[in-house]
Amino acid sequence: MKLTLSVIKADIGSIGGHIAPSHALTAAVESFVRTNAANLLVDFAISHTGDDIAILMTHRRGEGDAQVHKLAWDAFQAGTALARQQGLYGAGQDLLRDSFSGNVKGMGPAVAEMEVEERPAEPFLSFAADKTDPGAYNLPLYLAFADPMNTPGLMLAPKIAKGFRWVVMDVEHTGGDRVIELVTPEELYDLAALLRDAERFVVESVWSRATGEQAAVVSTSRLHNIAGKYTGKDDPVMLVRTQMNFPATGEILAPYQIGHYVAGGMRGSHNQPLMPVPLNSGTSYFDGPPCVSCAAYSMRGGKLTGPVDAFAHPFWQSVRLRVAEKAVEMRRQGFFGPAMLPMGELEYTGIVEKLAALEKRFVLRPD
Ligand code: 13P
Ligand code: 13P
Ligand code: MG
Ligand code: MG
Repeated sequence: MKLTLSVIKADIGSIGGHIAPSHALTAAVESFVRTNAANLLVDFAISHTGDDIAILMTHRRGEGDAQVHKLAWDAFQAGTALARQQGLYGAGQDLLRDSFSGNVKGMGPAVAEMEVEERPAEPFLSFAADKTDPGAYNLPLYLAFADPMNTPGLMLAPKIAKGFRWVVMDVEHTGGDRVIELVTPEELYDLAALLRDAERFVVESVWSRATGEQAAVVSTSRLHNIAGKYTGKDDPVMLVRTQMNFPATGEILAPYQIGHYVAGGMRGSHNQPLMPVPLNSGTSYFDGPPCVSCAAYSMRGGKLTGPVDAFAHPFWQSVRLRVAEKAVEMRRQGFFGPAMLPMGELEYTGIVEKLAALEKRFVLRPD
């Protein structure tokens, strides 16, 4: 039976700066979806990661369905009204358009969707990250789907050993979707060459070569490109199906122990490590560190069982301590060198104006 998983996420307001939405705000979004879900959704779940609220929906209407997208948009609009009443910071921050025009893609919210032929058991993971951009998932996906050092399934399971097909998007290109397809293991080094530049080349989806089934989908929109100016970090979502012809859940989760440095944290302008956190965690240290949550579900006929909070397990406590140390180490060098993002990625125009003004004062010293 064909089913669609849609996760749509937005920052519509947050307590005390960019920390976390209020309970009343997540409750308002939940109640709006519940009231309007009839005849549209099979099931849904709401959670927040940092200051972003994610609506996970299952339905039979396919990807990019106008009514499903409108439901999420309207829920975020309804929430924004409450966020204003509560005086929350950045009320409606990610709703970049005044009116809904058929699809929330390009309107501010992050969207990841896949239509799947539901398996008899359908385990999948719903990731949401805050204070970072979609390239944050490049490394964990590469390790999970292409590196046998991380994923023994690539050696042990014949169907997984057939490898994966990758769709990678050039997110710098603003005049339409510019994508490339690569297969691993044959084109592993080509894939690596692209994915190392995580601010430009972003994994959009991963597909099984053995069966053609879709394994993963990432939201690839960049607010920077939509709004033409800084309006907050992109804070990407991702859906990953696991087990059987895909890597095991443990293989998908394992790379997050690295706490790799990603773009994000503090005014969207710094390199900071990605911390795996429990669902419904806020942010703190320098508006970060950038964080990622993972809700694990099983599904039957579109009905969700779960979530199990994948990063709430005790294992991740020591990871978080180490990631916190990495965050402090990088921040100790303030704005110098790799602590801050390169010029083109800086999310504030103030520094560009400052440098333009200083440019006029440079003189060429005579020989
Ligand atoms: P179980 O035997 O607990 O199902 O585990 C299978 C497995 O190999 C998971 O990696
Ligand atoms: P958000 O995109 O999560 O609102 O973060 C904005 C920011 O730059 C905080 O420092
Ligand atoms: Mg915010
Ligand atoms: Mg956010």
